[in-house]
Amino acid sequence: MVDLSVDIGGLIIKTPVMTASGTCGYGEELVDFMNIPDLGALVVKGTTLEPRQGNDYPRMTETASGLLNSIGLQNKGVHYFHDELYPRIEHLNDHIIVNVSGSRIEDYVSVCEILSDLTKCTAVEVNISCPNIKEGGIAFGTSCSEAAKVTKEVRKVWKKHMMVKLSPNVTHIAEIAKAVEDEGADSVSLVNTFLAMAIDAQSRKPILSTITGGLSGPAIKPIALNMVWQVYQAVKIPVIGMGGIMNAKDAIEFILAGATAIQVGTATFIDPASCIKVIRGIEEYCNEQGVKNVRELIGGLII
Ligand code: FUM
Repeated sequence: MVDLSVDIGGLIIKTPVMTASGTCGYGEELVDFMNIPDLGALVVKGTTLEPRQGNDYPRMTETASGLLNSIGLQNKGVHYFHDELYPRIEHLNDHIIVNVSGSRIEDYVSVCEILSDLTKCTAVEVNISCPNIKEGGIAFGTSCSEAAKVTKEVRKVWKKHMMVKLSPNVTHIAEIAKAVEDEGADSVSLVNTFLAMAIDAQSRKPILSTITGGLSGPAIKPIALNMVWQVYQAVKIPVIGMGGIMNAKDAIEFILAGATAIQVGTATFIDPASCIKVIRGIEEYCNEQGVKNVRELIGGLII
């Protein structure tokens, strides 16, 4: 038996595989495809203080090896999550991680305060990297001082695990990671999507209503992998890797680059059982390689 459990800054999760926020709603859609308790954590959709309608359609389009989205953080707000959604999903996993977004620092703080009493909400993923909203989001994640400010303020009210989700749309992602580590982040997750666009040559118009969006999927994997490796070398807190992970081989590459755990996102749209297949594939790899404990692989890149 391979031990697949990992420790992300004091939070022990049974496998190193999580869903990526925004790719599985609140997990209920996945129930027919996998045993959700086998996931290390269920990371649910971006949640804001007030409900949001999201951006106008079209807001998703497929690109070569990628998915471009500009959803705009559509969600029913934290009170609805707290009162209606959480009671429906709390049995799904012992670690329900809420991705918290906002336009102002006060929004992040308020959302975290409201989530504090939810027992299975053992962590928040502070999203300072959404590229699809007019105010806030990525604006907090592209400056060390703004990233530090959000982290510092959330830290004051959120006593459980604080993961901060980083944007790849920066020159030196390791500096942003260090800035949030210095203000008390317990882990960093990276990368969110890359700013990108798609154009319809016939109409000469952008395909997305917002003109630009965020690119995910296999197209970004090598760049994400490099960023995970850069951040792993720069910080002491655990790194949660993501960006185009489609299968167990991809996941293992991220773990070797320094990720303690990984998130699967775009792959779930193609195969809703992707997460569980990644878990089984990691187990097979460990068996083949004589690895008793997946933790042995973290940062195990041989140079
Ligand atoms: O548009 C969106 O809802 C995307 C969110 C994100 O990338 O964090």
